[in-house]
Amino acid sequence: MRWTTLVLALHACNANALLRFSCSQLVTERLDPLVNPGVPESPHLHQVIGGNAFNVSMDPANNLSQIATCTTCTFSEDFSNYWTAVLYFRARNGTFKRVLQKGNAGFETANGGGMTVYYSPQAKGKVTAFKQGFWMLIGDAQARTPAQVAQFRQITYTCLQNANTRSGDVPNEALSSRCWDGVSLDSADHTSHVPYPSSGTFENNGPCPATHPVQIPQLFFETVWDTTKFSDKSLWPEDGSQPFVWSQGDPTGVASHGDYVFGWKGDSLQKAMDANCNINCPQLKTQTIAQGNKCVKSQYIEEEIDAWLPSPPGGMQVTAA
Ligand SMILES: *[C@@H]1O[C@H](CO)[C@@H](O)[C@H](O)[C@H]1NC(C)=O
Ligand SMILES: *[C@@H]1O[C@H](CO)[C@@H](O)[C@H](O)[C@H]1NC(C)=O
Ligand SMILES: *[C@@H]1O[C@H](CO)[C@@H](O)[C@H](O)[C@H]1NC(C)=O
Repeated sequence: MRWTTLVLALHACNANALLRFSCSQLVTERLDPLVNPGVPESPHLHQVIGGNAFNVSMDPANNLSQIATCTTCTFSEDFSNYWTAVLYFRARNGTFKRVLQKGNAGFETANGGGMTVYYSPQAKGKVTAFKQGFWMLIGDAQARTPAQVAQFRQITYTCLQNANTRSGDVPNEALSSRCWDGVSLDSADHTSHVPYPSSGTFENNGPCPATHPVQIPQLFFETVWDTTKFSDKSLWPEDGSQPFVWSQGDPTGVASHGDYVFGWKGDSLQKAMDANCNINCPQLKTQTIAQGNKCVKSQYIEEEIDAWLPSPPGGMQVTAA
């Protein structure tokens, strides 16, 4: 069911045009400048890609393309930041181990796996690029039931038997974005300034609500978690439940979430949207994955995340309700 959703969304995109590119890992740490600005250790761990201006707080008045000195993305004018929670394996003895990521098909060499980012300009008519200071998120890190995240569409998982086949239930994440009033760069909940189309979907040209008539690019993140090291079922919980938990202590999977801070240089993203670029984009500057891999940032506050840990970092308790 969830699998079908992802495939339909991407299929609809493929029928038209979409940018698809790799961003290597920038850092994996407990910062969340959007939800916990200025908090040097946010409650849970995130994996972050994009420009190296990512920081404990990020002033929307700052031009990220000027502050950052490098980006992990292969479109080298993209100094945006994108981040998600991190997956942990909970062993039968109650200790936790980070599940590492893996580069997506075609992007195998991306440092730390990173994420694949898609911007889809395929709606009918003008698609307006995000502006400096534009922030948003999708999903609810505290949610534990499907009903609590029913308003978010297209957060999906799929199991990769290999890099190109898809079935089952291993995480693979998508962030979709929506309609905009053309003015509000953010909102208190970081989501209500970008409502979904009033009916239908962005892919089938569902109309934007009258209050938010501006079509913005649809944004997807795709993350591949390498669960193959945890296939020994003798380490799984004795009750047979699945052993993976999100770094915010979510064992249900519904609290998957993704965050975005816009940071494309100048009008580069608008140019790419106007050109209706498909996968590659001659209008944009590029760098190799190897060049992107050189852009790394150390943790703001150093913390062990890869040992067998008594809890996900930050002392997060696993709560199923
Ligand atoms: C991050 O923020 C801190 C505290 O505001 C500041 O001292 C530091 O220079 C910033 N680092 C970067 C890379 O912007
Ligand atoms: C828990 O189990 C894992 C996997 O077998 C093992 O590597 C780790 O050392 C164990 N931790 C403790 C505290 O027993
Ligand atoms: C940010 O800086 C870049 C590089 O100098 C420039 O091209 C762009 O127009 C600036 N953006 C804004 C919104 O000032």
